[in-house]
Amino acid sequence: MGETSGNAHAALTRILFGGMAAHLVGGAVRLGLPAALGEAGATPADLARALDARPDTVQRLLRALAALELVEEGSGDRYTLTTAGRLLHPEHPDSLAAAALFYTDPLLLDSWRGLDGSVRDGSVAFDRLHGESFFEHLDRDADRAELFHAAMADRTRGTARVLPDAYDFAPFTTVVDVGGGDGTLLSAVLARHRHLGGVLFDAPGGAARAPAVLERAGVADRCSVVSGDFFRSVPAGDVLLLKSIIHDWDDERAAAILSRCREAVTDGGRLLLVEPMLPEGPDADVSPVPFLSDLNMLVNTGGRERARADFEELCERSGFGLVSVRTLPSPSGFTLLEAAPG
Ligand SMILES: C[S@@+](CC[C@H](N)C(=O)[O-])C[C@H]1O[C@@H](n2cnc3c(N)ncnc32)[C@H](O)[C@@H]1O
Repeated sequence: MGETSGNAHAALTRILFGGMAAHLVGGAVRLGLPAALGEAGATPADLARALDARPDTVQRLLRALAALELVEEGSGDRYTLTTAGRLLHPEHPDSLAAAALFYTDPLLLDSWRGLDGSVRDGSVAFDRLHGESFFEHLDRDADRAELFHAAMADRTRGTARVLPDAYDFAPFTTVVDVGGGDGTLLSAVLARHRHLGGVLFDAPGGAARAPAVLERAGVADRCSVVSGDFFRSVPAGDVLLLKSIIHDWDDERAAAILSRCREAVTDGGRLLLVEPMLPEGPDADVSPVPFLSDLNMLVNTGGRERARADFEELCERSGFGLVSVRTLPSPSGFTLLEAAPG
């Protein structure tokens, strides 16, 4: 009994300190620590000089990062990044550096202090706090919009690596990435499938970043960038791709977006949803991340994460029928849902 309670105490304490762990990672990225450690690593004294910080506090920071297994201490007091720590380097191809900054930004986290209110009445804490919606706020906060889109690109690169080969794009001609952000995902699809043309569709703030990304990927000549509002209309195509869009919205608004997609998809076309998927039924090995993301959506955008049955219902309500559902391979971790006009 005593031992069980002791384990529970330790487990709960770890959860309660979780916010500090996230801020430790965000702070290390803001200091530029991962880039300063680089491949070679550094001693606390070298690092302190590089970061213009005190050696004793740098040493304490490194100790805590080592406890999180993001750095490790080698011989001669030299610290190096671990495999997970390297993902915090801004130049790593799978970098999560911008995500580390965004997921510890007050704009996102302040809303969590209103979780109790959101649970009571279903209202969106962000809207109560700021008097406007999350996306309205981004429209007039250029720095946060920059960070948000960089963080979304960080979270999308893993999917961009695997989606082009995980789905058979051969029968199609035009992929419309609805709410495609900076174009990270569409660039990868177009680069892999040279017969395809693309349309990157997003609100003006999102679409503004896409031309440079499409250009860098060498696909700009096969892709137009269109800005607009997906509650009003969506450009036509035979593949409508929506990644991390539906989870931003409640069922009413999600169905409205999918209905606009139903109007835009050509005969024989497909709707591809790439979303986190809530597991159905109890499962001891289940990660808490989709459930935390679900509440993050509740407090910040009024959206939600969904299980397979919820997607099925949403699709049917909007004139689509689910054709296939599969988990995308690592490093994506997202679920690909394919639907056809019903
Ligand atoms: C969570 S992000 C996902 C971005 C991208 N699909 C990805 O997964 O990296 C949501 C996107 O929806 C866009 N968006 C929000 N409201 C919109 C609207 N009314 N019309 C078009 N795009 C919108 C945002 O600008 C943002 O790029």
